[in-house]
Amino acid sequence: MQFKSTVISNQEVSPGYFRMRMTAPPELAGSQPGQFIMVRVRDAIDPLLRRPFGIFDVGVAESEFPGLGAATYLEMLYKVVGKGTEALSGYHHGDHVDVIAPLGAGFDLGDPEEEKILVGGGIGIAPLYYLAKTLVQHSRVRFFLGGRTRDDILCVTEFERLGVETYVSTDDGTLGDRGLVTEVMERHIRENRSRKTLYACGPMPMLKAVAEIAQRTATPCQVSLEAYMACGMGACLGCVVKGKEHSDETPDYRCVCKDGPVFAFDQLKWV
Ligand SMILES: Cc1cc2nc3c(=O)[nH]c(=O)nc-3n(C[C@H](O)[C@H](O)[C@H](O)COP(=O)(O)OP(=O)(O)OC[C@H]3O[C@@H](n4cnc5c(N)ncnc54)[C@H](O)[C@@H]3O)c2cc1C
Ligand code: FES
Repeated sequence: MQFKSTVISNQEVSPGYFRMRMTAPPELAGSQPGQFIMVRVRDAIDPLLRRPFGIFDVGVAESEFPGLGAATYLEMLYKVVGKGTEALSGYHHGDHVDVIAPLGAGFDLGDPEEEKILVGGGIGIAPLYYLAKTLVQHSRVRFFLGGRTRDDILCVTEFERLGVETYVSTDDGTLGDRGLVTEVMERHIRENRSRKTLYACGPMPMLKAVAEIAQRTATPCQVSLEAYMACGMGACLGCVVKGKEHSDETPDYRCVCKDGPVFAFDQLKWV
């Protein structure tokens, strides 16, 4: 669905990281955790292509605009890395953004009886908040959050407020444990024998490490991938990754935008 959204707020939550809240049509409240949106960052030729972002949160709340009553909102959490995100960071309350949403295949919520382990690296936490908010309704949820330094650790309080047990680690030790988030998470998996599913989003080296841990510990695991996207709808094949059966003789490609962005880790080729 394509719609014009009005910006409610656009706050810098840590240096270079912004959280934008905007209006959305009521149908969007039914989005699946892990689905994404394509945003036209400017009403101009440059940048031409829409930019993909995860759904950080979506729901219904009393509207910030007078007289509107309860209304659907959509939130994204983004890091300024280039032209498009720089343009977004300049948006203010009342500005309009053109959005296509919801897109792609989201997370499978699995068996409510098992423990859910969420792993996020840096801005990779973006699609995990709405997932956590959905999962806590039925399951115990733990969240392992890693970043290079303390400025890359975002929204811990928001996750804790949901009732999620949160573990923080940074590469330089400026917040939480020093070291890789995947090491802390693997320790937890080995020390706690209950049935679990892993959900991960973050940089590719982190996702590879999570997939290896899932393999070693025989833990079901879903990963949310990022790729360069042009159309966001399966038409341009600009976003393909290799599927598990891929070889030079039998190509097996999956579109991140249409088959994903969420995949079971064992559906992908990791080398
Ligand atoms: C399904 C999906 C969900 C995403 N969700 C989020 C999110 O919730 N929050 C967020 O901050 N970002 C998210 N991203 C990444 C985001 O789309 C890019 O950071 C953004 O498009 C960059 O646009 P730009 O014009 O600012 O940067 P550009 O000027 O286009 O590029 C600047 C730098 O960012 C890198 N880059 C650009 N696009 C991507 C990409 N798609 N994947 C990896 N690296 C890229 C480029 O290599 C370059 O180094 C997501 C990407 C995908 C595919
Ligand atoms: S972005 Fe065009 S096919 Fe995925």
